[in-house]
Amino acid sequence: MKILENISLLPYNTFGIDIKAEHFAEISNLEDLRAGLRTGIRPVFLLGGGSNVLFTQDVHGLVLKNNLRGIKVVREFKNKVWVEVGAGEVWHEFVLWAVEHNFGGVENMSLIPGTVGASPIQNIGAYGVELKDVFVQLEAVNLSNGKLKTFRHSACRFGYRDSVFKREEKGKWCITSVVFSLTKSPHRLNTSYGDISKTLEINGINTPGIADISRAVVQIRSSKLPDPAKIGNCGSFFKNPETDRNVLDRILKNHPLVPHYPLADGRVKIPAGWLIEQCGWKGKRVGNTGCYERQALVLVNHGGATGEEVKSLAYAIIESVEKQFGIRLEPEVNMV
Ligand code: FAD
Ligand code: EPU
Repeated sequence: MKILENISLLPYNTFGIDIKAEHFAEISNLEDLRAGLRTGIRPVFLLGGGSNVLFTQDVHGLVLKNNLRGIKVVREFKNKVWVEVGAGEVWHEFVLWAVEHNFGGVENMSLIPGTVGASPIQNIGAYGVELKDVFVQLEAVNLSNGKLKTFRHSACRFGYRDSVFKREEKGKWCITSVVFSLTKSPHRLNTSYGDISKTLEINGINTPGIADISRAVVQIRSSKLPDPAKIGNCGSFFKNPETDRNVLDRILKNHPLVPHYPLADGRVKIPAGWLIEQCGWKGKRVGNTGCYERQALVLVNHGGATGEEVKSLAYAIIESVEKQFGIRLEPEVNMV
């Protein structure tokens, strides 16, 4: 493993921000990781696919790009398998592997960018399924002493786009592998998300399998979300806000058609994309940044944007949504 200096992170983040890492190395095994920690260079920042980070300035310390690979079945049961996956595996390639082997549970999360190691950080989710629904445990190395620890499900304290790794344990660990519980046929399919059933119908599929669902999700996502290879972005920039019912009632007075989803605790979720669109931001360009024309929740880099520019746009949007609706949006993307 080689430690490089003053390396541009432009190829390593999907927002396409051109900033530098003071020190940078790619790690392919635990020994590389421990060698990186032994240099004493601090802080250490773990980087996967760079699809949920917005770099706003040069990164001080050591950036470690995770390339730990490997996918293997570690336990077999009558109706399910446990699969251990190296943290540097590309998430969508793992999904395709699962579908190919007829293991179910991750097909609704097809085409989410990034690595397997980052998937527990914000408990990734899409189309009615979240990582926590298939998660068994993970292994992580403590960045201060190099020791390996197992985090079981309850220790991760998963929430909506949230886990202990975004809170108390933030920046303290390198996740090295994740174990998933996947079903053998017959699978429990989740087609409850409207777009999925509609797309299956258009595709003429009456009795779908996991491969059909994966294909439908890829189709839906490709039509809505910008491809980071063509236009820099990090997916949803903000979380969908969860608010009290009385906030919704107030909005309903002027906007009887506001989309909203009831939560188990009596509160409601209102799509941030709708709030942002109502404030007139959808498709709007500000300098080199802007709000994507087909999905207001996605901020984009039209070319040459700085992280500070994207951050300013994000805060302008937060202020305007708060002024108009009394709801303060919270960023989903990790600002570094
Ligand atoms: P990075 O961006 O590299 O890192 C994210 C954070 O995790 C950073 O804080 C980093 O330090 C930390 N981290 C990364 N790897 C490790 C590790 N091994 N150990 C410890 N810490 C680590 N997300 C969803 O949930 N659902 C979606 O539908 C979705 N759609 C998206 C669509 C697009 C077009 C894009 C660009 C992004 C989308 N995202 C979505 C966000 C993103 O794909 C996920 O958050 C993904 O898990 C990030 O993975 P990454 O490897 O790129 O992480
Ligand atoms: N909407 C608008 N205008 C817009 C965008 C959305 O009015 O410009 C409204 C529409 O009513 C639409 C609703 O918002 O029906 C929901 O939109 P969509 O189905 O596109 O989903 P989302 O809430 O914007 C969430 C996740 C995505 C995930 C999809 C599918 C968050 C923050 N985002 O988006 O995750 O892929 O659902 O499950 O929860 C990500 O986290 O990066 C991400 C892309």
